[in-house]
Amino acid sequence: MKLKARYTFFTLSILFLVYTGSIYLRPLRAGSMNSSKEAISGRIVWQKYNCQSCHQLYSLGGYLGPDLTNIMSQPGKGEVWVRAMLQVGPKQMPQFHLTEVETEELIAFLKSTDSSGVADPRNFKTSASGMIESNGRN
Ligand code: HEC
Repeated sequence: MKLKARYTFFTLSILFLVYTGSIYLRPLRAGSMNSSKEAISGRIVWQKYNCQSCHQLYSLGGYLGPDLTNIMSQPGKGEVWVRAMLQVGPKQMPQFHLTEVETEELIAFLKSTDSSGVADPRNFKTSASGMIESNGRN
């Protein structure tokens, strides 16, 4: 009896460790966020100028401007477009007079958010296991 309980405990512990490991490795397999030094500095620039107060990342943030998670791969947008918008300051968006370095870092940051996944919930599907995944339409 005691041996059986030990065996059950041991088996469940192994299963727990394997499952935990598989969950923590998941983002690595799915193509994790590109966290280059430049992209990390870009996140600081993003916070410094409070871009989040008007823009969303992954649908969270202010709603004066559009969601910027996937701006880098949006048809007709991308790097050149973002550069232009930052220089001009469209509509209610202030012209921030960013330095060239800040602009480069912001672009690296937006590239990393783009590579991390899809923000538009219309592109999500729920798998049988309950996980939310892209339906590949983006
Ligand atoms: C005061 C609000 C506000 C702040 C703060 C703000 N923006 Fe904007 N942003 C806007 C508005 C409004 C637009 C124009 C949306 C439109 O054209 O309909 C815009 C447009 C953009 C666009 C073009 C989006 C597209 O889909 O064409 C980019 C890129 C952008 N902003 C980046 C930034 C970044 C980076 C920051 C921080 C440095 C920032 N914005 C801060 C309000 C803001």
